Amino acid sequence: MNLMELRGVSVIFEDRGGGFFKRRRFYALKNVSLNIGEDDLILVLGESGAGKTTLGRVIVGLQKPTNGSVIYKGYDVWKQKRKIYATYRREVQLVPQDPYSTLPYNKTVKEILEAPLKRWNKLSKQELEKRLVELLDMVRLSPPEDFLDKYPHQLSGGQRQRLNIARSLSVDPKLVVADEPVTMVDASLRLGLLNTLAEIKNKLHLSMVFITHDIPTARYFYHLVKRGNTIVIFGGKVVEEGDLEELLSNPYHPYTKDLINITPSIDNLYKEKPEVKINYERVDFGCPYQLRCPYVMDICKKEEPQLIGTNSHRVACYLYGGQNR
Ligand SMILES: Nc1ncnc2c1ncn2[C@@H]1O[C@H](COP(=O)(O)OP(=O)(O)OP(=O)(O)O)[C@@H](O)[C@H]1O
Ligand code: SF4
Ligand SMILES: [Mg+2]
Repeated sequence: MNLMELRGVSVIFEDRGGGFFKRRRFYALKNVSLNIGEDDLILVLGESGAGKTTLGRVIVGLQKPTNGSVIYKGYDVWKQKRKIYATYRREVQLVPQDPYSTLPYNKTVKEILEAPLKRWNKLSKQELEKRLVELLDMVRLSPPEDFLDKYPHQLSGGQRQRLNIARSLSVDPKLVVADEPVTMVDASLRLGLLNTLAEIKNKLHLSMVFITHDIPTARYFYHLVKRGNTIVIFGGKVVEEGDLEELLSNPYHPYTKDLINITPSIDNLYKEKPEVKINYERVDFGCPYQLRCPYVMDICKKEEPQLIGTNSHRVACYLYGGQNR
């Protein structure tokens, strides 16, 4: 059984796109289905505004889908709340994008970590202290005694994100969603943080959803974990999915190809970069990529392409599978 399943999840928001007084409804996520097994790594790739954080918030239960279901351990978390909601909210945790805004400024590291430990477990004073030390060691805030009495503002960005990770681990989660966990951390500290996160994932056999806009970061993390299924999202839709290395060496979707081409790497750093026309407008019908796609056809503007392919590599684009006929 999958640990978690998203079935046809859509999230509709409103913005001011329809003019000053008019609000326009748009899909931040559209018909997203996803299976997350135990010990799995799912990498979520996509540019700013694609819907990555919204997806992460749906997975951890901070955003209720407008349509579709979130199934955890076989229960629908919004429809069978009494059976599963408390367990689900404890076992599925978020490491947020912004390490600065999410920690209480007036509490010490010890107080921040003690609160969830006390809420969910009956621990003696000694057990509590042992668990605090374990948690700080695990996220490599060591020696722990140097950190217990510090306030968040006395920590660096990287250390704050380590504290966020320790906080999410304190309740023994089964699934952790890491939303761009290193984006707001100083570049020199990023690799160390990714190493620690992967070490924890591998040691505890956690399922993890790792969200990033950056292919090199996804790739680095993938190799630390040694596998990882990837979904590429654009305009709230999954446009391609499969094993990351397979997807990078043999991309199908024009968006995935563009994403790879604009990513500097050792191989293409000095190559002429193709001009990618950036258009962030959303469309109401058809393929979400139609305004930027050089191969756009009539059908792309009328009907949405569905994901097709094998279990290991699927794409939603009329260039494949004879869907355009
Ligand atoms: N609560 C909200 N109300 C209205 N619109 C929202 C809300 N939250 C997000 N959005 C919009 O939904 C779209 C998807 O946002 P989301 O934060 O999921 O994107 P993202 O892929 O995480 O982007 P980034 O890489 O910048 O973090 C964006 O257009 C965003 O402005
Ligand atoms: S479905 Fe059409 S518009 Fe969308 S990516 Fe494929 S060819 Fe381009
Ligand atoms: Mg985001």
